[in-house]
Amino acid sequence: MWKIEDAIDLYGIERWGNGYFSFNKNGNLSVRPGKKETLAIDLKVVVDNLSAKKIKFPILFRFPQILEGQIKELNGAFSHSISEYKYNNIYQGAFPMKVNQRREVMEEIVKFGKKFNQGLEVGTKAELLAALSFELGQEALLICNGFKDDEYLKLALNAVKLKNKLVIVIDEFSETRRLLELSKTMGVKPLIGIRVKLYSKGSGKWAESGGESAKFGLTTTEMLDCIKTFAEYEMLEQLQMLHFHVGSQITEIRRIQKAVKEAARVYAKIRNMHINIKYFNIGGGLGVDYDGSKTSSDASANYTIQEYANNVVYSLKDVCDEEGVSHPIILSESGRALSAYHSLLVINIKGDKNGNRNKLIEMRGDEPHIITELYDGSKEINIKNYIEYYHDALENREELLSLFNLGEIELEEKSTGEVLFLQICEKAAAFARETGNKSDDFDDLNKLLSKKYIGNFSTFQSIPDFWAIKQLFPVVPVSRANEKPTQYGTIVDITCDSDGEIDKFVDLKDVKEILELHELNNGSYYLAILMLGAYQDTIGDYHNLFGAANEAHIIMDDSGGWHIKQIVNGDRNCDVLGYVKYNTNSLLASFESEVVQAQRENKISKQEAEEIINNYKESMNQYTYLDM
Ligand SMILES: Cc1ncc(COP(=O)(O)O)c(C=O)c1O
Repeated sequence: MWKIEDAIDLYGIERWGNGYFSFNKNGNLSVRPGKKETLAIDLKVVVDNLSAKKIKFPILFRFPQILEGQIKELNGAFSHSISEYKYNNIYQGAFPMKVNQRREVMEEIVKFGKKFNQGLEVGTKAELLAALSFELGQEALLICNGFKDDEYLKLALNAVKLKNKLVIVIDEFSETRRLLELSKTMGVKPLIGIRVKLYSKGSGKWAESGGESAKFGLTTTEMLDCIKTFAEYEMLEQLQMLHFHVGSQITEIRRIQKAVKEAARVYAKIRNMHINIKYFNIGGGLGVDYDGSKTSSDASANYTIQEYANNVVYSLKDVCDEEGVSHPIILSESGRALSAYHSLLVINIKGDKNGNRNKLIEMRGDEPHIITELYDGSKEINIKNYIEYYHDALENREELLSLFNLGEIELEEKSTGEVLFLQICEKAAAFARETGNKSDDFDDLNKLLSKKYIGNFSTFQSIPDFWAIKQLFPVVPVSRANEKPTQYGTIVDITCDSDGEIDKFVDLKDVKEILELHELNNGSYYLAILMLGAYQDTIGDYHNLFGAANEAHIIMDDSGGWHIKQIVNGDRNCDVLGYVKYNTNSLLASFESEVVQAQRENKISKQEAEEIINNYKESMNQYTYLDM
C-alpha cells in the first residue's frame, strides 16, 4: 500500500524543503510560506485556478512570504549567535542584486529587510541605477562591488551626496587612485571598503572564486600599497570595510571557518595600524541544501544557517579577542540562501516517448529464427527465470543488429525484434522490482526503459544552471503523490537541442539519472521544478526564442486561504523577436507585401490574404511556449 509518507520520502521533499514544501493528504504539492502545516497552499488547486483563467503554462510561481521567512531566519540566527557568544557588535545583511535583480523580488526583499537594516550589494552600473531607487533602513548599506570605470565611480560618488551609507569597495588595485582622485575632484568622501584575496578557498562548484588566483581582491602587498595611497590622500578614516568572498554555495562549514579566521587576522592587523575598520563583510557563500542530504556534496551544504552564523561569530570573536581589537559589525552578502526557495516553475507534460513497446506483436509463423526466439522469450519470462531471459534478450538484440547489418533481415523484422526486446525488458524490470533486485544490471535496465516526458518549458530559459553546470534542482509531481509512481523518466524540454533535458535528479545518496514518475493517463500531468529563486531569473537565455514564463505571485492569508497578488505576463513572440533586434512592424510590412504579391498572382484569394495576415498578427502576440 503506497502512502503519502512514501512519496515524501521518495522525493525527499521534507529533507530539502526547509519546511516550506510537502505533499498533502490529497497527494498534491503543498507550499507553506510561513512553515506552518496548518497554513498551506495546495498548489494543484492554484494550478487549476490559473488554468481556468486561461493563464498558460509554464508558470513561474513566486511566494514573497518565503523571502520574508528566509530574511528572518538569517537575521535570527546571527542574533542568536551574537548573544550566545557575547559578541560585542551586530549583524547586518546586504542582498547581492546579481542573485535576483527582478524588481518585484527586490521590492519584497527591501520591504522585509528594512527592520533588519538589510542593505543591497551591486556589481554594475545598471544594478546601481536600480538600487538607488530603493529606500533602505537608516543604517543599511548600499555596497558597490565589481569592476569600476570612471562612469561607475562618478555615479556612486554622486549618490554618496544623497545616501550617507554608500560603500565603494576596491575590488581591484587599479581602482584605488582613480577613486581617490575622483573623490577629491568631486569633493565627496565616500565610505570605502577593500576586498582582500585570501588563501582560503570555498568548496563546491564555485570554489575557484576564492584562493590566490581569484579574479577579485587585493594581495597583501596591494592592500598595504592601497592603505599608503589612502594616507597620501588623507582619506584613511574613510576606509571602513574589509571584504572577502570565497565563492557561492560553500558546501563545507570548515572552509567558512578557515576563511573567517584568515580574514579576521587581516582585520585585526589593520585595526592595529589605527585604521578604523567598522564592517567585516564576509561576502556570500551561505549554501542551500538542494538535495536534502546535509552533506558536502555540490548540491548540498553540511551545515545549517544557525551553524553558519555560529561559526562566523565564534571564529571572528576568537581572533579579535586574541589580538585585542574591538568586534566589528558583521556583514554578509547572502543571496542564494535568501532567495532560492521563493520560486518554482510548474510545467505541463505534453506526452512521453516510449519506443512503441506497447505494440501488439502477432506472429505469422515464417519469421526468422531470431524473431521467434525473442517472441518466445517475451511469452515465457517469469519471476524465476527473468534474470536468465533478460541476459538472453540482450544477446538476441546484438544478433538482431548484426543480421540487419549483414542484410539478412528486413526493416519490418528489425522493428518487430526491437519491440519484443523492450517487452522482455519491461517484464524483467517488473520482476526485479517485485523481488527487490537492486543489482547494477537492473539499474541500467530502468534507464533503458525510462520514458522521456516532454515538458512545456525551456531548460535554457528557466533552469540555466542545470544546463550550464549541472546544478541540481528538485523536481516533483504537482499531484498524484498518493499514487505509487510506476514509471522511470527524464524530462525533455521543447527546445531543438538535446542538451535541453533534465537527466540528473536530487537523491539522498547519489545523483539519480532517472526519476520515478506516474504513467500519463488522459488527464493533464504537471511537474514542479523547485528552488529556482537564486540566479536563474536573469542568467536564463533565449535559446530558440523561448522567453520569460508567465508568473503568478501567491500570498498565503492568515485565515488559511490564499490569493494571487499579481500575474506577470511572460514574453510574447514579438517581445523575444525584439530582443534579437527585429522590428516587428518591419517584419509585418515585409510579410504583408509578400501576401499582396501572392494575391496579385492569383495564388490566394482576397479572403485568404486577410486570414493569413490576421493569423500572422495574432502569432506575434502569442506566448512563446506551446499552447496546450
Ligand atoms: C561579491 C559577492 N557577494 C555575494 C555573492 C552572493 O553569494 P551567495 O549567493 O552565495 O550568497 C556573490 C556571488 O557569488 C559575490 O560574488
